[in-house]
Amino acid sequence: MLDGKNILLGITGGIAAYKTTFLVRLLIKAGANVKVVLTESASSFVSPLTLATLSKNPALTSFVKENGNETDWNNHVDLGLWADLMIIAPATANTLSKMAHGTCDNLLLAAYLSAKCPVFYAPAMDLDMYKHESTKNSFDKLKSFGNIMIPATTGELASGLHGEGRMAEPESIVAFLKEHLSQDLPLKGQKVMITAGPTHEAIDPVRFIGNHSSGLMGYELAMVAAGLGAEVVLISGPSSLSINHESITLVNVVSAAEMYTVAHKHFENSDIVICAAAVADYRPKTISSQKIKKDGDNFTIDLIKNKDILLSLGKIKSNQFLVGFALETENELENAKGKLIKKNLDAIILNSLNDKGAGFAGNTNKITFLDKNSEIKAFELKTKAEVAVDIMNEILIRLHA
Ligand code: CTP
Repeated sequence: MLDGKNILLGITGGIAAYKTTFLVRLLIKAGANVKVVLTESASSFVSPLTLATLSKNPALTSFVKENGNETDWNNHVDLGLWADLMIIAPATANTLSKMAHGTCDNLLLAAYLSAKCPVFYAPAMDLDMYKHESTKNSFDKLKSFGNIMIPATTGELASGLHGEGRMAEPESIVAFLKEHLSQDLPLKGQKVMITAGPTHEAIDPVRFIGNHSSGLMGYELAMVAAGLGAEVVLISGPSSLSINHESITLVNVVSAAEMYTVAHKHFENSDIVICAAAVADYRPKTISSQKIKKDGDNFTIDLIKNKDILLSLGKIKSNQFLVGFALETENELENAKGKLIKKNLDAIILNSLNDKGAGFAGNTNKITFLDKNSEIKAFELKTKAEVAVDIMNEILIRLHA
């Protein structure tokens, strides 16, 4: 959510300023680019050098650049325009009042007035100051400007008193920002289930039947869906890939039978289901408990059919938007349409092995998106990350139609 975002952190003069070192670290860890502006009094509570080191950018306190020549100055307009969002934490009663009235007597306030991005502020002050009518007026005024308050919490205050006015903890500030930013995402509140990778069907303790699927297409789809705000369950057969996103739950499985069980467990709660796994159609009838020794010139394994996971989900489908893949070598469109109908899908993604760069082993794919209303859209050869975006876009268009 915060990855790649430019965040301008304004720190004002309250004891909670010391906590902003942790806040900067958390923002950087979340992938944000951070610049810090402090008021003069904030620098009595927290060192600009610490903040500059943590943020990897100079921490600015004044318009005039230290050690610069006469024409060097810190441009508040550039800072304001650079920011994708601005956070003022801690926000003292003094600064809040100045923000509410347009007072502009330091770099932080000038940057605030120049910022066109969403502005969040985390008040921190003693309980009686927090309750004061004047402070409440500031809150109301700032709300009317569209600024967003990250409410103070109740606890022990610097004065020794106990009450409301403690700045929200850095973790809570980051959680608040993420929650707020996710509100507008198109898949916010939606649950997406994705199957990915190959399945391995055991022959004996050391051998299996598998295929060349890397799992990449499914993993990329999971990342795109999570980026759009969805809670994702990614059910993956054996794959060398890893995934790290707080909204993605990875469930590792090995065989088609395991994938079937896990997929059915999560299906009912899902809104969108994409079966991208290259599931083995057959498995050995029996699994030898001991390693099979070579014996004779020929060797035969009896195979029995695995359950078709996608077909079984299509049969019990209620409100889910169900999407399958079809890997074809001939009569591609006809076969894909046949599978869409047979498996009761809302859409199917066709890969033709006749297209160079398409399929389940490499990093690229060339797809055709077909839906149940016979709409067909063919795409160029792209990376699987780009293909995942195209697929999710097509799904979103149909969900919101
Ligand atoms: N699929 C599945 N479970 C299976 C087999 C396939 O969920 N046991 C899903 C795949 O994840 C894919 C779709 O079904 O989304 C199409 O799979 P594919 O193997 O191309 O089609 P089949 O229906 O198995 O037909 P065939 O192998 O004969 O082409």
